[in-house]
Amino acid sequence: MRHLHTAQRRARAAAIAAIVLIAAVIAAAQDAAPTARTVWSGVFTEEQAARGKAVYDASCASCHGPELGGLDGPALAGTDFLRNWLEDDLNSLYDKIHRRMPGDAPGSLSPRETVDVVSFLLRVNEFPAGAQELTPDERTLSAIRVENKSGPGPVPNFSLVRVIGCLTQRPDKEWVLTRGTDPVRTRESAPDAAAAPGAATVLGSQTFQLMEVASSKPENYEGQVVRVKGLLMRQPEGTRLNVTSLQASGSTSSCP
Ligand code: HEC
Repeated sequence: MRHLHTAQRRARAAAIAAIVLIAAVIAAAQDAAPTARTVWSGVFTEEQAARGKAVYDASCASCHGPELGGLDGPALAGTDFLRNWLEDDLNSLYDKIHRRMPGDAPGSLSPRETVDVVSFLLRVNEFPAGAQELTPDERTLSAIRVENKSGPGPVPNFSLVRVIGCLTQRPDKEWVLTRGTDPVRTRESAPDAAAAPGAATVLGSQTFQLMEVASSKPENYEGQVVRVKGLLMRQPEGTRLNVTSLQASGSTSSCP
């Protein structure tokens, strides 16, 4: 009797130890997992946005309007502005302002003035402030997604995107990308990826009709995995890409 009792106690102790161990493993895994940050995570402070307003008033308002409604430059608040930056990361917006703005003196803002003015634009577009300042660090900025409150969505129509797929000529001589990946937003200024898509690239299931592709000499890469950059045009008869660049992999193994 007494013997059994001890065995039960041991079994219970072992079970508790196992539970504690599992809990510790889960906690460690949660610590290690990078938390997805978005513009809804509170990525700048109120104070920083206030500093950014001073930069805006001095260097931007003359073209973009005192209330950001647009004058010689486009509006920097509201739906049109957001559509230009949704499904991208904050580094793209930072980069645009740092390298191209103010329109009459590009490159004249310091990195810190630039993140401050980005914070101000986020504030005016009703994204929440948080406890930590936004820093002008490419890795940090690239890890913050711009998305709607409801979460990530499809890349807006007429955005510049990148897609990887198989370059195929249809019987009617039209060039299409088959087994295409979901389009990812990119920018004219974004460098083309150093490496061409490798043989191990995971392809998708989308088909894109390629427009204006002749100057990229598609006949040289028929049947290969290619990376295409172009303007996304979703139309009732299918999705088109108005091609601005094409990078071939030399690999045909994943293509039909
Ligand atoms: C001399 C006029 C001028 C000034 C000053 C100016 N901009 Fe612009 N800005 C423009 C014009 C014109 C465009 C549209 C062409 C382009 O995108 O380059 C533009 C475009 C932009 C865009 C892209 C808009 C979009 O939705 O795609 C952003 C962001 C921007 N400006 C931010 C700023 C900020 C921040 C400042 C102040 C630091 C500033 N601009 C100062 C003229 C100006």
